[in-house]
Amino acid sequence: MHGRSLPMRTESVAVWDLFVRVFHWCLVGCVLLNYFVLSDGKTLHQALGYMACALVAGRVVWGFTGSRHARFAAFAPTPTRLRAHVQAWRAGQPLRHEGHNPVGAVMMLALMGCVSALGLTGWLQTTDRFWGEEWLQDIHEALGHGLIVMAGLHASAAIVMGHLERTNLVQAMVTGTKVFRR
Ligand code: HEM
Ligand code: HEM
Repeated sequence: MHGRSLPMRTESVAVWDLFVRVFHWCLVGCVLLNYFVLSDGKTLHQALGYMACALVAGRVVWGFTGSRHARFAAFAPTPTRLRAHVQAWRAGQPLRHEGHNPVGAVMMLALMGCVSALGLTGWLQTTDRFWGEEWLQDIHEALGHGLIVMAGLHASAAIVMGHLERTNLVQAMVTGTKVFRR
């Protein structure tokens, strides 16, 4: 879909399918609730934590079967892509990405890995073998703090990168459409 409007020229590209958008904002909800509201480790905390893991598992499947920009093949942060991205930045000519940029993709994978590790360390605490183990609680807690710090960086980067690429990335994660201003 290409559109033009005066006085500013814009170009609209449909990038995020419904699954990606629902996945994203549900994951955000689960993580923020578990960290800021329900961090007692009780039933609701566990349910939301497993829900977050289920969302991530679904996203991994979608990464192979989903729409064009949702596929890992489209944005996997390979060394070649990372190098091209950094070189373009150095040259003062950042590449325009319809989908995820490779640095953002590294963060995305780290965020999903961290959620999975929280699920594992959380679940282990409910087993007979590891129940009451303090070191496991400490790891779970540290992963929780780490996830929130990374998510803060991720959200800030999305806002700043959107400005630099003359589009609103956050809005695109809501509507599915990136509107580039010329
Ligand atoms: C998005 C996923 C999750 C996040 C962000 C998260 C975060 C947290 C945080 C911040 C705490 C408080 C740690 C402290 O101050 O001591 C906590 C505690 C706890 N979480 Fe999770 N958690 C997640 C998933 C899970 C899951 C899936 C389970 C279990 C099935 C679980 C079980 C527990 C338990 C048992 C505690 C209490 C541990 C303690 O007594 O220190 N969590 N979690
Ligand atoms: C706990 C908090 C968060 C987590 C775990 C998280 C995780 C993720 C993940 C996994 C993706 C990849 C989406 C996909 O391809 O399926 C993503 C993308 C994205 N997230 Fe978040 N996110 C969080 C918070 C936020 C917040 C608060 C914002 C808004 C300011 C935000 C804005 C975005 C945007 C704009 C993208 C797409 C970036 C692009 O255009 O390449 N995220 N996030």
